[in-house]
Amino acid sequence: MDEYLVTGGRALSGEVQVHGAKNSALPILAAALLGEETVLHNCPRLTDVEAACNILEYLGCSTRREGQTIVIRAGEGGDYSIPDRLMSEMRSSIVFLGAVISRFGRAVVSMPGGCELGPRPIDIHLDCLRKMGVEIREDHGHLDCRVAGRLHGARLTLPFPSVGATENVMLAAVLAQGETQIHNAAREPEIADLADFLTACGAKVRITPEGTVLIQGVAALHGAEHRVIPDRIAAATYLCAAAVTGGRVRLTQVRPDHLTAVLPVFEEAGCRLQTGAGEILLEAPPRLERVRMVRTMPYPGFCTDAQSPVMAMACGARGTSIFVETIFESRYKQVDELARMGARIKVEGRVAVVEGVEKLHSASMRCTDLRGGASLVVAALAAEGTSAIREIRHIDRGYEDLDRHLRSIGGEIIRRQREERERQG
Ligand code: UD1
Repeated sequence: MDEYLVTGGRALSGEVQVHGAKNSALPILAAALLGEETVLHNCPRLTDVEAACNILEYLGCSTRREGQTIVIRAGEGGDYSIPDRLMSEMRSSIVFLGAVISRFGRAVVSMPGGCELGPRPIDIHLDCLRKMGVEIREDHGHLDCRVAGRLHGARLTLPFPSVGATENVMLAAVLAQGETQIHNAAREPEIADLADFLTACGAKVRITPEGTVLIQGVAALHGAEHRVIPDRIAAATYLCAAAVTGGRVRLTQVRPDHLTAVLPVFEEAGCRLQTGAGEILLEAPPRLERVRMVRTMPYPGFCTDAQSPVMAMACGARGTSIFVETIFESRYKQVDELARMGARIKVEGRVAVVEGVEKLHSASMRCTDLRGGASLVVAALAAEGTSAIREIRHIDRGYEDLDRHLRSIGGEIIRRQREERERQG
């Protein structure tokens, strides 16, 4: 297992090209099961993307990577039951459920267990699929799903705008008989990206201005070429990294309009921002100001994934910042690790109060989850001395070459392999 060694104190300066969005690539890869040949551009090199390709291969598809492009050819045969070892490689493997049911009329998958962010229920996914004609048996941690007759459209109202449930229903509905309506659907940009991809494959998907997703089932989908949208969370993380170091960074291949709830926080912290077509320029003051209140919400609200890197930013800011996490139960796992650097954070239930300290110091830490791990890197870039960050496999799930990108803008960060670490004692 590799680790990062991060020496803080150097202001980052330069340009970073933001990679494609993990959270878009994964459902689109699942959707590729339904078409013929998919050519997916801007597909980041991440362990979660690799895991999705492994599942596709198991399901009878062939996958080939050429640079940032993945070509997927859906096969004739394949198995509808995904082994546990493949399901557990990726947290979001449940997004394959709708596509597998659509493709094979049957799916056997393991139930996702709890994860680093707390319990990860899928009741909304299952309720919706049942309403579309899927019989589901839950048995010893497995879900056995069969279509009774033909998958049919349904008028659905989600009790919460779950991203994964919206995607699963879309994937099931594109080949179902009749119309599906998803009211109170998730409105994240990744949903629109999936809709665009499915439309390019011949599906009939429309999102109303109120965010209702309307799908008219078609008999078959064909192949398509598509470019994944930029990763808004990776973008937010690079902005945090530049901001904590008092740096200046230009992000390219980014969509500022996908970050409308997050960008004002940087201005509040005293940074100067300029946005243009596909670009964001951030210039930070030597010391950041507090951010009054960050409350995570479904899109277009402040996204929960950006909460952890922004918290890292608040740790060294002047004044007290308050965070309210409304999406996931346990999204403050990074707090104990940040405290090792001298951060002063008090958590009570869903509220975290961060009292900014003058200076963070280096520490030895471990990543607790993907975004929590990224927050440790952000904080370490501002801390005095050299920090060691272990269990960076979490970071590899969602950031392509985080260390290389940070080095390219002046960050002192190296990735050290375990063997090397042991050799050096
Ligand atoms: C997706 C994103 C993740 C992001 C999250 C919220 C991917 C691969 N992951 O996760 O990065 O943080 O959206 O924006 O796209 N819930 C239920 N029952 C369900 C489904 C969800 O209670 O059936 C709850 C969850 O426990 C959680 C909340 O709803 O508390 C949000 O979950 P959801 O929107 O489904 O997130 P994911 O799709 O898992």
